Amino acid sequence: MQPREPIDAARVEIADLAGPDAAHVLAQLRTLSPVAWVPEVGGWLVTGHDLTGQVMRDDVTFTVDDPNFSTARLTGPSMLSLDGAPHRRHRTPFVGPFRPRRVAERFEDEITALVHGLLARIRADGHADLRRSLAGPLSVAVVTSALGLEQVDAGMVLDWYGHIVGAVSTMTTGSAVPPEATAAMAALAAHIRAGLRSTQDSVLREATRDLDEADIIANAAVMMFGGIETTEGMISNALLHLLQNPGALEAMRADPALAEVVVEESLRLEPAAAAVDRYATRDVVLAGAQIRARDLVRVSITAANRDPAVFPDPDRYDLHRTNLRAQLSFAQGPHVCVAAELARLEARLAVILTLRELPGLRLERPVQPTGHIFRKPAELPVCWAPLR
Ligand code: HEM
Repeated sequence: MQPREPIDAARVEIADLAGPDAAHVLAQLRTLSPVAWVPEVGGWLVTGHDLTGQVMRDDVTFTVDDPNFSTARLTGPSMLSLDGAPHRRHRTPFVGPFRPRRVAERFEDEITALVHGLLARIRADGHADLRRSLAGPLSVAVVTSALGLEQVDAGMVLDWYGHIVGAVSTMTTGSAVPPEATAAMAALAAHIRAGLRSTQDSVLREATRDLDEADIIANAAVMMFGGIETTEGMISNALLHLLQNPGALEAMRADPALAEVVVEESLRLEPAAAAVDRYATRDVVLAGAQIRARDLVRVSITAANRDPAVFPDPDRYDLHRTNLRAQLSFAQGPHVCVAAELARLEARLAVILTLRELPGLRLERPVQPTGHIFRKPAELPVCWAPLR
C-alpha cells in the first residue's frame, strides 16, 4: 500500500507502520478513526494522544497481565507483566534508585567517562557509525553497571539479548521457550546472583529488602532488556535529528544547556519505543470502537506524539515547543518507564560530549529511523574533522 493513498485500516500492513513514513500512515488512521482494528496487528491501534494516555493509565480495563504477553513465561513475573498490587510490589523497590538526584549522583561521572572512552576509540578515524560505536555500547555498559553485573562484556549481554528477544517473538506465535533462551536467562540469573553477593553498588541491592531472589532476577532481566535497544535508539535518534537540522545543531553547539530540549523534542518526534501493548479485561467502547475482552489494544506512541491537537505542526522538529513534557515516549500511568531519568541523562551527555569532541560533525549520507515497535536508523554514518 502507498502511504499517501486514502487509508483503509483493513489494508494497513506492518511494513507501512515500520517504514520511514509510518507517522503519515498513523496520522491518516487517526483522522479516520483514533481506535482502529488493524488485521495485520491482530488488534486495535490507538493513535490519539488523549486516548493513548487513557489506555495506559487504566490498568483495570487495559492490562499487561495476559497469557499472550510472553515475556513473563521466560523471565518470571515482573513489573512489566503485572498490574495492580502485585505490580506495585515489584516496581516500588526500584523507584528510589532511579530518582533524578540519585541518578545524577550515581551515574553522571560514570556515563561521562564511558562516552569519553568510546569517542576516544574513534576520534582519529574521522568517520564512524555512531549507533554501533557509541549509542549501542553506551546503553549496554550503563545498564550492566546499574544492575551491578560484574565480568560481563557487551558481546555476552547482546548474545543474551538476541536469544531472549528472539524467544519472546517466537513464543508470541504459541511456540515453547527455545532452549537457548532458557540458557541465556540462566546465565543472566547467575551473574545477577553474583552481583548481589558482591560489594558493587547497584539498583538491585535495595530491592533485596522487599523481593525474593527470583523476583529480583525477573525485574533485573526486564530492566536490562528494557534499557538496551530503547536507549540505543533514543541516543541515535537525538543525534540524527540534530544533524538533520543545521539551525538546531548550531544552537546546541553554542549552548550545551539546550541538550534537555534537544533530547525531549527528539523523543517526541521519534519515540524509540514506538508502541506498547495492552489486553482488554472486559468488553469496552473506546472512541466508538467496540473492544472485546482479551482483544489486543496496541497504543501507538509515535502517533500520540504527533497528534496535532496537542503538538501543532507535529512533523516539525521544533526546540521552542512549550509543552514538550506532554510527549509520551516513556509511557504514562503505572508502567511509566522506571528508568526514564537515567536514559535522559545518558542521551544528554552523549549529545553534549559528541558535539564537543567530534568537531565539524555531519551526516555522511541520509538515513531515517524505521521499525514498528522500536524505531531507530539502521546505522548513523557520520564524519568529522579528525584531531591529530
Ligand atoms: C536505562 C534505560 C532503561 C531502563 C533500565 C528501562 C526499564 C524499563 C522498565 C523496567 C519498564 C517497566 C516499568 C513497569 O512496567 O512498571 C519500562 C517501561 C517503559 N520504558 Fe523503559 N527503560 C529504559 C529506557 C527507556 C527508553 C530509552 C525508552 C524510550 C525512549 C523507554 C520506554 C519505555 C516505555 C514506553 C515503557 C512502558 C512499557 C509499557 O507500558 O508497556 N525506556 N522501562
